[in-house]
Amino acid sequence: MSITLQVGTRLGLILLVISSVCAAAPPAETRYRIATPDRDGIGKFYMGRQISHVMGHQGASWLERGSRRSEERTDLLIASLPLEPDFIVADIGAGTGYFSFPVATRVPQGRVLAVDIQPEMLAMISSRMVQSGTTNVEPVLGGVESPNLAINSIDLAFIVDAYHEFSHPFEMGQGLFDALKPGGQLVLVEYRGEDASVPIKRLHKMTAQQAGKEMRALGFTGPDVLDVLPQQHILIFTKPGE
Ligand SMILES: C[S@@+](CC[C@H](N)C(=O)[O-])C[C@H]1O[C@@H](n2cnc3c(N)ncnc32)[C@H](O)[C@@H]1O
Repeated sequence: MSITLQVGTRLGLILLVISSVCAAAPPAETRYRIATPDRDGIGKFYMGRQISHVMGHQGASWLERGSRRSEERTDLLIASLPLEPDFIVADIGAGTGYFSFPVATRVPQGRVLAVDIQPEMLAMISSRMVQSGTTNVEPVLGGVESPNLAINSIDLAFIVDAYHEFSHPFEMGQGLFDALKPGGQLVLVEYRGEDASVPIKRLHKMTAQQAGKEMRALGFTGPDVLDVLPQQHILIFTKPGE
């Protein structure tokens, strides 16, 4: 009895480890499912999750609101990023550059590529560069299917409150996987979908389980989970290779 249990437990553990490192990528023809949209969604589903609408540049002041630092502890988020002073970092879905600029001070010998699909957001980043005299932030116009970053060119990518909006999460994820150097890390920060007390619309939240499923389908390992923020997960995924 105890032998059976031990064997069963071990087999279970092995299966758990296998499933956590090599989830299958969804085949192209069934990758996305289209259905009637919810109020906040676009009616396009990926791995069981409905994709949300993109937050327009008209919402820039919400990203820059004075209460954000204490509500979300954005200072802790920035301090938690595993950075080295010479890192090339990509801020994907950078918006107004709320995170790009403080992160740039953490990579004084490196730089931050601030990627967004809205030229209006990039214009705000450009004027902030001029106003602050920052020279190591670089605005990059991304496409909905590609971050437009060179292969094996970045040490770390982070995505704060944006991944759930990507209309082509698989293609974007592939582009990010390719852009990271071997051993590079992807830090995904999303409002906790498991936590009903987080006052954010359902489609703008994500569970760690869902994020893990989507990232492992791309070849990432992880996540290492940092639960240090009041409302969001910090999920750290790694591109194998070092
Ligand atoms: C809610 S805002 C978050 C901005 C910023 N990360 C922050 O937390 O302050 C989401 C941003 O993601 C951008 N976005 C949506 N889809 C994108 C994609 N496929 N590639 C790059 N940016 C995207 C939007 O244009 C928007 O600026």
